[in-house]
Amino acid sequence: RSTLFPYTTLFRSQPLPAGSGKSTVAKLVADRLKCTYIDTGAMYRALTLRVLQKNITVTDSEALSQLAQMVNIHFQTISNRQHVFCDGEDVTQAIRSPEVTATVSSLAQCVPVRKIMVAKQQEMAKTNSVVMDGRDIGEVVLPQADFKIFLTASLNERARRRMLEWEDEGFKPLLTDVKKVLLKRDNDDAEREVEIGRASCRERV
Ligand code: DC
Repeated sequence: RSTLFPYTTLFRSQPLPAGSGKSTVAKLVADRLKCTYIDTGAMYRALTLRVLQKNITVTDSEALSQLAQMVNIHFQTISNRQHVFCDGEDVTQAIRSPEVTATVSSLAQCVPVRKIMVAKQQEMAKTNSVVMDGRDIGEVVLPQADFKIFLTASLNERARRRMLEWEDEGFKPLLTDVKKVLLKRDNDDAEREVEIGRASCRERV
């Protein structure tokens, strides 16, 4: 147990991230351990929402970095459900929209943005015992974590879960479209896997 990260459990899905069920399990574990659950994907999504609202191009790394520095993202549990706040506004639902989902991977490729987000995530873990969910956590954000957990699932299962999530949030996508989005995201994310890091041999899958 490190002093810097008092009690940290991490989730990372590999090699197919979206919809593998990691956030469900991570939330349950956080609840059981009375830790703060930090969904780092939601942080990238919150930033993407602001980027879209401000009409910033996802290739404008300077504007993206400025916004990433300024934006204040925090999590709060309300009626047993975790809510995401961006500069005080509850964006829990808005960050799951198809527009944000389609854009977030491009934004997450911006190296200066990643550095800022990583610093924010490390800061969150300094003062709290956390369960942190995201693919670069074990290698980049919290390499000294006490536990690292990897999850994966088939494309069909991931698409089914993502459909249910979207339906729950009022969107009505077609299964084929959901699969396409997941596959595109996998490809986009895989292309920058070098940046994010891979599971090291001491981590259990
Ligand atoms: O897990 P998710 O679908 O909410 O993630 C949204 C996007 O953010 C996805 O493209 C992966 C990216 N992401 C990332 O690059 N690093 C993280 N730690 C978490 C998510």
